[in-house]
Amino acid sequence: MPLLATEAESSYFQLFVKAKRLHWDPATIDLTRDRDDWAMIRRDHAAEQFEEQILRLCSLFYQGEESVTKTLAPLLSAVPRAGLGLDKELHLAAQLYEEAKHFDFFQRYFTDVLEQDGAASQAWMQPAPQAVLVDDLDAVTDRLRREDDPEALRAGFVEAVTHYMGVVEAMLARTGYVGVSDALSARGWLPGLQEGFRLIRRDEGRHVAFGIRCIAEMTAARPDYRPLVQATFERQLPNVLGTIAAFDYPTPLVDIMKLQQFAIGAYTQFMAAAGLTDDADALAALRAELDEV
Ligand SMILES: [Fe+2]
Ligand SMILES: [Fe+2]
Repeated sequence: MPLLATEAESSYFQLFVKAKRLHWDPATIDLTRDRDDWAMIRRDHAAEQFEEQILRLCSLFYQGEESVTKTLAPLLSAVPRAGLGLDKELHLAAQLYEEAKHFDFFQRYFTDVLEQDGAASQAWMQPAPQAVLVDDLDAVTDRLRREDDPEALRAGFVEAVTHYMGVVEAMLARTGYVGVSDALSARGWLPGLQEGFRLIRRDEGRHVAFGIRCIAEMTAARPDYRPLVQATFERQLPNVLGTIAAFDYPTPLVDIMKLQQFAIGAYTQFMAAAGLTDDADALAALRAELDEV
């Protein structure tokens, strides 16, 4: 099927154009100073448990990027089967390449700086991050892969986009990258990791924008999809909060309150996209849950 004139001008196609322009290679990031900093952090900051906190953070990013790399293909293949447009397909093709690069960056960082096999990151996956980042994301995208009915496929796509782009990328990944970048730049530590985060965040901004646009467009055309969006967020909320809460150390490296605020902001953005912002009860319930953490 050719790219329609309307698709060539669409915001989805523009995200693809931007992805090509902003290409980067994880292999070119200089990690020399990071090795020295990592030795210093382990030697001089044992009392603050910064080594453990950085390992835990990098482990979640490693596992998360591996998971989103493996689970994006079902969304990509659902687009033509559900007749959702070649422009969305082009964006998702670029996104799949970018997720593979993000995983590649952490693979390299574990080996070259943290001096561990990346597979060791599995040890830091408590039930909450394991569910939201890996198991539940795998389940929702696997259902999409197996679906043949076009109507069910479109509803499944809305659900999968909400979980993938809304919960995993907007509420957790982008939030985590912002929080950790701020923490590291304030201390002037690990410049290679900071640079990787900067480039990954730039990509994630496009991925989240794709999700917001899809949800806005599809719920505007089909308001009966709105409960799917809301239910997906509500189901994953305890896992999101549990994932963030694991970083609440006696001397926290990252600002937990800030992470929670970013996560709320991302949730609110998607609620607004779905036309659900007037649902004050949902926002009040979210804030009440956050107060409990
Ligand atoms: Fe990513
Ligand atoms: Fe992403």
